[in-house]
Amino acid sequence: MGRGDAATLAVALLLGLAGCTAPGGTDMTVQPSLRPQQQPRPSAAGTLPMGGEPSVDRVVAAAALRNPVTPSAASVDSGEKLFGIYCALCHGPRGQGDGPVAQKFMPPPDLTMKAIAERTDGYLYATIRNGGALMPGLGESLTPEERWDVVNFLRRLQRP
Ligand code: HEC
Repeated sequence: MGRGDAATLAVALLLGLAGCTAPGGTDMTVQPSLRPQQQPRPSAAGTLPMGGEPSVDRVVAAAALRNPVTPSAASVDSGEKLFGIYCALCHGPRGQGDGPVAQKFMPPPDLTMKAIAERTDGYLYATIRNGGALMPGLGESLTPEERWDVVNFLRRLQRP
């Protein structure tokens, strides 16, 4: 091996060693992986971020929130459809606490009963958004307007 060859080999070895420690090499902590905490991924189509609207306590919402959606036939119809998809499994199609899941779970209250009919729209809205003691929040499934549509449908159930 001539001097030129030895020098080439030395350079190749150094480059090889450098390659092992360089970012993107074998060190897993510096691999170019996706780090959700640093690169929040955009939400999938059709899902809703809860952000943008501050979370509201039900008691605060009861007094503070006003229903901005007129209970038109279109709103009540939309609420009925959404209730069938998201609520009836527990609450039953007419809100009477007789959905199929209620038999496996704590039976939910009859939504047409007086105590619930007397709740304000804001309280019902916040219950739909955030859930209750046992009820799961449905804020990620329904847009604010859809939640008000469901409130408008509940009113129709309560005062037919
Ligand atoms: C997984 C079952 C389940 C689903 C789905 C569900 N609920 Fe409930 N809901 C409950 C249970 C159990 C309670 C009673 C305990 C509690 O408040 O968490 C309840 C309570 C309520 C109350 C009474 C709150 C109060 O304190 O007066 C309202 C109003 C209500 N639900 C509306 C809805 C609406 C509207 C939907 C659909 C958008 C829905 N729920 C979806 C189980 C459910």
